[in-house]
Parts: sequence; C-alpha cells; structure tokens
Amino acid sequence: MLFSSWGSAVQAPWPDVAEVSDHVGVRHLVVTRHALVRQVLADPVTYPPDNALDAVTPMPVTALRVLAGHRFRLPPTLANNSGASHPEIRAIVAAALRPERVAAQRPWLTALVRDRVARLGARLDTGAPVDLYADLAADLPLLVLARLVELPDAPVGAVKEFARAALELFWAPLDTDRQLALAAEVGRFHRVLRDFAATGGGLAGELRAAGHSPDVVVGALFFLLVAGQETTSQFLTLLLHRLAGEPAVRAGLRTGEVAVADVVEEGLRLEPPIVTWRRVAAADSTLGGTAVPAGSSLVLWLGRAGRDPAVVESPDEFRPGQRGSRRHLSFGAGAHRCVGDVLARMEAAVVVAEAAPLLDGVTVVRPPWCPDNLTFRMPDAFVVRGTGS
Ligand code: HEM
Repeated sequence: MLFSSWGSAVQAPWPDVAEVSDHVGVRHLVVTRHALVRQVLADPVTYPPDNALDAVTPMPVTALRVLAGHRFRLPPTLANNSGASHPEIRAIVAAALRPERVAAQRPWLTALVRDRVARLGARLDTGAPVDLYADLAADLPLLVLARLVELPDAPVGAVKEFARAALELFWAPLDTDRQLALAAEVGRFHRVLRDFAATGGGLAGELRAAGHSPDVVVGALFFLLVAGQETTSQFLTLLLHRLAGEPAVRAGLRTGEVAVADVVEEGLRLEPPIVTWRRVAAADSTLGGTAVPAGSSLVLWLGRAGRDPAVVESPDEFRPGQRGSRRHLSFGAGAHRCVGDVLARMEAAVVVAEAAPLLDGVTVVRPPWCPDNLTFRMPDAFVVRGTGS
C-alpha cells in the first residue's frame, strides 16, 4: 500500500499506527488517524521534518556521482528544515504568496481558463477527445507562479519535466537505470537554478539580501518549482476527474446551491495530490499506544486522515460543505503547513467555476493513471470525449 495509498487501501481497516516495510526493507510507521497525524505535525521537537525530502529508494553511488557532476546540493530550506533559518526563509516565501497578491492574479487566470474552456468545449462538440490534464491543467499553476515569483527563463515543458523527474527520483520505488536517468534530468535543471540563484531578482534576490547562501537560494527555488506548481496541476486533474463522476455536485454548481469553495475543500479532502508526508522521531515516544523508537520514519497518511469518521460525517462521499469537510490535513499543519494554500485554493476555484460545465455529457475515455509513488499522485492524463453534435 505504501506506493499506491490512494487506492483501495485508503478505505480498508487499519490500525491507528501500522508498521509497514518498504521495497528496500526499511520499516515505516504509517499513521492512519486524523488526531494522531495532527499530533505529529504539531510537535516538531519530537517529530522534526528532517526526512521529508529523503530519497525513498537509496541512491546508488553512480547516481550520486551524476548529481555531484552537476554540483547538486540541497540543504534544508523549507519542508525539511528544522533549523533556525526556517522561519525567516518561510517568511520571505510567504510574503511572495500573500493573499492580496494571489487575489490580484485571479482575473488574469479566469480569462485564461475561460478562453481555454471555450476552445476545448468547441472541440468536444465535434466529438473529438480532449485531455483535461495536458490541454487545461498541466501548465496553469506554473504560469501563475511565474507571475508571482521571478523564475528562471526556462520553457514550461522543461520545468514540468524536471519537477516530475524530481518527484519520481525522491519518492518512487526505482531501479538503478531509472535513477541514473532521473538524476541526470534533475541535475541538469539544478544547474539552471544555480545560475539564476546567483543573479536573479525577486525572491532569489531577497533571500540573497537576507544573507542566505547560494545553496539555500537554489534549495528554496527547487522546492517552490516542484511544490508550487506540480502539486496543484495534479490536484486540478484529480478534482476534474472526480467531478466527472459527480453529476449531482455539478448540477448544484450550475444552480448555485453548491459553493465552488466547498467543492474545492471536499476535493482536497478526498483527492489530495500529496497522499502522505514524512516526519522522523527525534526521541522515543508513544503514539496512540504504539511505541515509536527514536529514528523511526513516520509516514503520515494525509489521504486517510481526511476520511477519518471521527471528523467527517460521510467520509467516503463527495458532499461539499458536509460537517468536517474542511478539517482535512492535505496542506499539513503546524510550523511547516503549506504556504501556498491560498494560491492553490484560488487556482482550483477558478478551474472548478469555469471548467466544471465542460464535464456535462462527456464520456471518460481515459481516467488518470497514477504511477507508484510514496507521496505524489502524478496523474498522467485525463481524456474525455464529447457526444458530437
Ligand atoms: C493542492 C496543492 C498543494 C498541496 C496539497 C500542498 C501540500 C503541502 C504539504 C502537505 C506540505 C507539507 C506541510 C507540513 O509539513 O506540515 C506543503 C508544504 C509546502 N508547500 Fe504546499 N501544497 C500545495 C500547493 C502549494 C503551492 C501552490 C505552493 C507555492 C506556490 C506551495 C508551497 C509550499 C511550501 C513552500 C511548503 C513548505 C512550507 C514550510 O516548510 O514551511 N504548495 N504543501
């Protein structure tokens, strides 16, 4: 279940803390209950995030050499930084993503999505297939991010490839050949980031001005380019797919009886793009009666925490606005809680409001397929076909 924890396993019975060994024999404690996941996230002293970005398949020396050849270094900056520099780095990133800056992007994004939806609608009317991942969702978050944060001048396709390679390299079960190929891809783009970090303005300039080393600037950009766009494009795709199978919710959206924001929240709860997130135990402790020895890897099952009957009325049903719907932990919690939540919610709200009507009367030709991964869903496509006129 570790590498496909969004599948049927999410509805199966589980102990509150389950011991699971991974593909290389490493033992993880999977935390399955909302209250316990929250307890871990709220206690960064006992459960720091130092292992959050560790490669789940240990890198062989050959892959490490490829990365070293590109001068790849990733010091703790954001999600895996339990050190004293975290609050300041986080504050600089959060300032770039503050609610009024995000809100200012809404009209631009709405116009872009509306235009795309009109063209895709016309294609569906001819009976042609449309891939709502590639043709609608894939690049939107990156385009918005580039308007909020100065980024290296790289083609959208190159950034997407790098980001997906990074998610696979660090979170997927892999063989050595694949690790080498991914290390080359990630290393190449890291070099682009290194050049930009030395001279770039905006966030990069602010981090430099605050006295952070070039490695830290690269680390922050690296994380933002992955976390700040790939997660959301995955979420948009999964949410549209879910909505395709929820005609009553779409009808409610049409009449205004169902609020867009409630649909987004229920989507985050039931279709989170990040299904698990890790912490490491810094000391011996007990979690819900289970002994947690120091050094244990804790896999926090965010996807399941959102379906905990202790917090949600109808855990497995997509019911916008139901009791407990907003209490999901899909953005984490505590000191490292996602700083892009307002942005992700805005993007999803625009896409739901503009694109949900596209789903009326379509046939799903190809649902999203998600490769094995500890943490990220990474849907590859979502193809629908109209009935033709
Ligand atoms: C639906 C989309 C997204 C989801 C589900 C998501 C989820 C998460 C999760 C689970 C964490 C770890 C939280 C923790 O350790 O408690 C996180 C951290 C983070 N996210 Fe997001 N995220 C999304 C979008 C974004 C966006 C759009 C941005 C920025 C543009 C962003 C930037 C970050 C950053 C910088 C952190 C690290 C925060 C820190 O360590 O202080 N995320 N996110």
